[in-house]
Amino acid sequence: MKKIISGKVREVYETDDGKLVIVTTDRISAFDVILDSEIPDKGKALNCISLYWFDLTKDIIPNHIISSDLADMPAEFSKDKAYYEGRTVMTKKLKMLPYEFIVRGYMFGSMWEDYKKTGTYCGVPIEEKYVQAEKLKAPMVTPSVKNSEGHDENITLDRLRAEIGKEEADRIADICVKIYTKCREDAAKKGLIIADTKFEFGYDENGVLTIGDEVLTPDSSRFWAAEDYKTGISPRSYDKQFVRDWLIANKLNGVVPAPRLPEDIAANTAKLYKECFTAITGRESYV
Ligand SMILES: Nc1ncnc2c1ncn2[C@@H]1O[C@H](COP(=O)(O)OP(=O)(O)OP(=O)(O)O)[C@@H](O)[C@H]1O
Ligand SMILES: [Mg+2]
Repeated sequence: MKKIISGKVREVYETDDGKLVIVTTDRISAFDVILDSEIPDKGKALNCISLYWFDLTKDIIPNHIISSDLADMPAEFSKDKAYYEGRTVMTKKLKMLPYEFIVRGYMFGSMWEDYKKTGTYCGVPIEEKYVQAEKLKAPMVTPSVKNSEGHDENITLDRLRAEIGKEEADRIADICVKIYTKCREDAAKKGLIIADTKFEFGYDENGVLTIGDEVLTPDSSRFWAAEDYKTGISPRSYDKQFVRDWLIANKLNGVVPAPRLPEDIAANTAKLYKECFTAITGRESYV
């Protein structure tokens, strides 16, 4: 089978009849560099978390998933079930929009940095007074454009409107808020806060807007544990922050060739991904 994309985290194959098989590996990237360590079963956690949210949001927007059952896929993926099961999906091949749609529910990260300095974010003035990590009055959608070097550039909604049309831009922004709002209500029942996330969309063979890639995983989102959420600080997060902190502390952030993580950092990260999977899906095992 033809491999068409080898991304930072996913291997994407195309079937003879024009569908995709997407395998989420255990690779981990931080500061845009793929590290020289794998996080055991991280790919299964990401894939199973995405499948959960795809199902929960299917009434808001169709998604790219065709099947998560290896029996529906080319036979080669059943040869190593222990590896592929739980991390492999068959999807529609979408014509992807070259944007990421970032949805923020809290004043944090780059938004907090910009707001502190300029009182604006991505060209939008922010009138309300916020402290770090405070919930926003309303979720905010900010697109970014994916460029070939792999570094994304934030753009204004107005620029997106000019590029894909006002109606389409507003429709997608509205869908982003609907997905985010529905999922954060679900996550709240499970003790999780979804601080921010990003979505990717494309069009299927009939031109229908469809959500693809991954949805609301710790790789694409910032999750906080509700029990120790406080404003004015950086809350404990269920994502790669662990790894990022270690890289920064050792002055290895963004360094090439990518460093190898110490065993305990890798093991603790694996534990965090598993915990996140269990918290969201209520399940203990991936298959
Ligand atoms: N249904 C789909 N049809 C076509 N392309 C898809 C689909 N779902 C996801 N993709 C693309 O497949 C790739 C997934 O690989 P991976 O997540 O490893 O990429 P990445 O390194 O994050 O790269 P990128 O910066 O492009 O997101 C992404 O480029 C994503 O846009
Ligand atoms: Mg990706």
